[in-house]
Amino acid sequence: MADTYKICLLPGDGIGPEIIAEAVKVLDALADRYGTTFDYERALIGGCAIDECGSPLPDETLAAAKASDAVLLASVGGPKWDTTDPDAPRPEQGLLGIRKELGLYANLRPVVIFDALKDASTLKAEAVDGVDIMIVRELTGGLYFGKRERREGVDGAGVDGAAGVQAYDTLIYNEYEIVRILRQAFEAARKRSGKVHSIDKANVLETSRVWRELAHRVAADYPDVELVDMLVDNAAMQLVREPSQFDVLVTENMFGDILSDEAAQITGSLGMLASASLGDGTALYEPSHGSAPDIAGRGIANPLAQILSVELMLRYSFDMQDAADDVNRAITAVLDEGWRTGDIAADDTDPKRIVGTEKMGDLVVAHL
Ligand code: IPM
Ligand code: MG
Repeated sequence: MADTYKICLLPGDGIGPEIIAEAVKVLDALADRYGTTFDYERALIGGCAIDECGSPLPDETLAAAKASDAVLLASVGGPKWDTTDPDAPRPEQGLLGIRKELGLYANLRPVVIFDALKDASTLKAEAVDGVDIMIVRELTGGLYFGKRERREGVDGAGVDGAAGVQAYDTLIYNEYEIVRILRQAFEAARKRSGKVHSIDKANVLETSRVWRELAHRVAADYPDVELVDMLVDNAAMQLVREPSQFDVLVTENMFGDILSDEAAQITGSLGMLASASLGDGTALYEPSHGSAPDIAGRGIANPLAQILSVELMLRYSFDMQDAADDVNRAITAVLDEGWRTGDIAADDTDPKRIVGTEKMGDLVVAHL
């Protein structure tokens, strides 16, 4: 643990500013307690950056992120900037850009169920019992970053043989990109229950066949870890059938995006899922959920995924394991006492215990 950590704060859009404020409260409380200093630098990303600077990832933001010990991001995007015009800037480009520029190829998304929230899951409580999954998603390759193009007026591409639009996206992976993410997964499994599910679509895609071969090659270096290959469509089904069969689940970028939302719902709410994006330099921490523009500015968003992202930051970037444990214990205690934001409230939740964003943050701080 160092004396001072520089944290780059990227509140972004929608509920972002509201939830990041609660995460900062938690960090400030921990700074006092552990005698360390967190220096914050705020920067713009996403829609707000498009509005202010014309770019979803301004140069100053990237510089601030690179100069920090860790980046805490909230969320980007909203209907204001939604467009299908390929030439218009999109908030999501800020997020994808910072992932690429910081080389954050490994996205870890822990899916755990707090006991108090078992009933918030749409699955039966006995099905979600003991769920503890680590999704390891490749984050800087695949369809997200392959060449894409839209061509207008292509002969025969239109309806009834007319000229029309043709578009393509490219799913491309290099061997080194696959091997390094697989290694992350096997390393993680070694510290957990020793099982890796490698998810692919090897019955159709060439990238997946290469992925599968490499998974077995990497597995040879980890004789203590069991490797299970699973097709992505089956994995989607197995996640809701018997989620407790999974420990570490490793997959390419797009499959990981989709499966992590699905897995999050097992926990009852996307509002509970944090993520760590790691590479060779500064790491980035963010909730797995989006900017929830429908509830932005109303003070009702669930800040817990953002606060759980702080827990991951303390663990992976600052090696402050005790402080990270404190955060987890505080959240567990708050939930055990029955406090809920609207998204995780159940029919039998005491209405007096349904609280807003700020109050939820205060409760967590009080339990630290
Ligand atoms: C996520 C999000 C992003 C992604 C979007 C906002 C670009 O869904 O972090 O999972 O697809 O990676
Ligand atoms: Mg997603």
